[in-house]
Amino acid sequence: MKNFLLNIFKDRVVSPWWILVIDLGIVAYAFLIAFVLRLSLQLPSYSVGGFIAAGSWVLFVYLLTFLGTGSYRGVIRHSNYNEFKILIIACFSAFIVLVIVDSVVKFYELPWWRIPRLVLIFHFLLTAMLSFAFRMIVRETYAFLTKKRATINTLIYGAGDMGEITLEAIRNDKDNLFHVVGFVDDNPNKWNMKLHSIQVQSWDKAMSMRAEREIVVIILAINSISVQRKKEITNDCLDKGWKLKVMPSVGNWVNGISNRNQIRDIRIEDILGRKEIRLNQRRISTGLEGKVILVSGAAGSIGSEIVRQLLRFPLKKILLIDIAESALYDLQQELLLSYYDVPFEVILVDFTNAFRMRQVFEAYRPHIVYNAAAYKHVPLMEANPYEAIRVNIGGTKLMADISVEYGVEKFVMVSTDKAVNPTNVMGATKRICEIYIQSLAQKGGVQTSFITTRFGNVLGSSGSVVPLFKKQITQGGPVTVTHPDITRFFMTIPEACQLVLEAGFMGNGGEIFVFDMGEPVKINDLAKEMIRLAGLKLGTDIEIKYSGLRPGEKLFEELLASKENNLPTHHEKIMIGQVQVYDYESVKEVIRGLLGALNFEDNGLLVTRMKNLVPEFVSNNSSYSILDKTN
Ligand SMILES: NC(=O)c1ccc[n+]([C@@H]2O[C@H](COP(=O)([O-])OP(=O)(O)OC[C@H]3O[C@@H](n4cnc5c(N)ncnc54)[C@H](O)[C@@H]3O)[C@@H](O)[C@H]2O)c1
Repeated sequence: MKNFLLNIFKDRVVSPWWILVIDLGIVAYAFLIAFVLRLSLQLPSYSVGGFIAAGSWVLFVYLLTFLGTGSYRGVIRHSNYNEFKILIIACFSAFIVLVIVDSVVKFYELPWWRIPRLVLIFHFLLTAMLSFAFRMIVRETYAFLTKKRATINTLIYGAGDMGEITLEAIRNDKDNLFHVVGFVDDNPNKWNMKLHSIQVQSWDKAMSMRAEREIVVIILAINSISVQRKKEITNDCLDKGWKLKVMPSVGNWVNGISNRNQIRDIRIEDILGRKEIRLNQRRISTGLEGKVILVSGAAGSIGSEIVRQLLRFPLKKILLIDIAESALYDLQQELLLSYYDVPFEVILVDFTNAFRMRQVFEAYRPHIVYNAAAYKHVPLMEANPYEAIRVNIGGTKLMADISVEYGVEKFVMVSTDKAVNPTNVMGATKRICEIYIQSLAQKGGVQTSFITTRFGNVLGSSGSVVPLFKKQITQGGPVTVTHPDITRFFMTIPEACQLVLEAGFMGNGGEIFVFDMGEPVKINDLAKEMIRLAGLKLGTDIEIKYSGLRPGEKLFEELLASKENNLPTHHEKIMIGQVQVYDYESVKEVIRGLLGALNFEDNGLLVTRMKNLVPEFVSNNSSYSILDKTN
């Protein structure tokens, strides 16, 4: 029977005209019933001719309102609140028209058939109820037929609001496979209580559950939980062979709506993250309100997250600038599907192209610029200094100069820890950008406020170790680590971008804001943890291979936010870097020389020019190390 009904629904959508015919059938049927009800109350009887004439008139009016509102156009099996609303409006409009016409007929005693008022009221109510019921029956039958049987025994960790929302999101999804068999909570007061008829229990008790109720998935649904606790739960789940998933916290829901698809696997970022960052929302919101914002490198890891975070504020418009067509397209699709309120413009452009960038500034007059476009891969830039200089230095200088030209209020540059005592070409180009920006900020008569933000690696950014390890693990390994002792400081992308927004509204301009990256992470341990998270055993299922340090790569990174080199701010995670500030005119000349030399000098000469401007740039494990010896 189920299959027979499913076959009826399968790939077939009933033509709207058939829906209209059914709705008119309901109108006619309701008219008959309304009359029967009325006659049973012993009121004046009607001739058959009068009944048919009145019925035809009623049908005609309802036909007009159905056509006018398009109430028959929706796909019935997916009827929603909006369609029900349109249906009620159509029926009510027809009712009002009929009442008005009937009143006119009565008032002027026209020789026209009349319909008792009570019949019209009964008829309206019946028509609305029956057509509503028709849609509900089709919708619910379809939902029943297509609903999958939830078979994965699941526990929701967290019997609070998030837990309830998670349960609701699971129950409302017809494709859901999670069968929630219990809640877990760390609060003893909730143990043995029931939430939506489902038992709440302690984690210890859940872990000793009987085999016939074998748990397969745990969904972590707690808004604020310490990383330490997350780690413990992760370890317990790995020991038990349970899959741990996470319902993201409310702030991360697309458009503030929860659904089952947002439940995702636990990531390495979840157990490496640190204390939640608190932002001065009010100051940022006031600073951004009504502004046109330009984000360069918008399709990149940092740029796209800056865009996502900016879209939560009351901006006038946001301009997404990038040269990477496909990545920009993906971002556009993501934002379109997320229904943000802020209008955005996607602009495919090379930010080193002065003509095109001036066109953009002329057309949109941005108030604030976030400059996140860059080439960032150390070994690639080591092999291609020409491109590193052209894009990183040339592009940033151009953006800064045009921002001054067009009276941009604020220019926020995204820099990197690799700019500190650089050991590679990429880091040196970023240091030169910092030097230029700072010297420009010191120059008189500049109304743009220049802010530089410096931070270390972000977890999961394109081309970083996390996506690389993930890929290697899915391919069965080996996981390649350059050196067993190599360490790096890490932040999550959202953490770093939150701090970029915060720093953008701190200070007076001209500062380099340095972010506290927390404790360094051993890359070897990161690889091991990711292997464990994937449910694999190191040495048995997968190997780690040490590939040797790459050109320009350091074993340990310097502590970025050390107290000796930085001054504190009111934000515990943001410091002001104390660095040498250069004179604008001389810096401008050196950079102009460097950019000009791109056309005729070889890599060695270009790198020498950079080393002259940044004396602390000492190449490491690179073919340019020879230049340091000869200097
Ligand atoms: N990823 C990290 O771990 C990290 C850490 C600290 C600082 N940063 C800095 O943040 C910045 C962005 O890094 P990311 O990780 O987002 O890199 P990414 O490669 O993901 O993004 C950079 C974006 O810039 C765009 N771009 C490059 N050249 C361009 C051009 N000529 N015109 C227009 N767009 C261009 C690219 O298409 C890309 O979308 C870099 O300066 C980097 O040094 C990154």
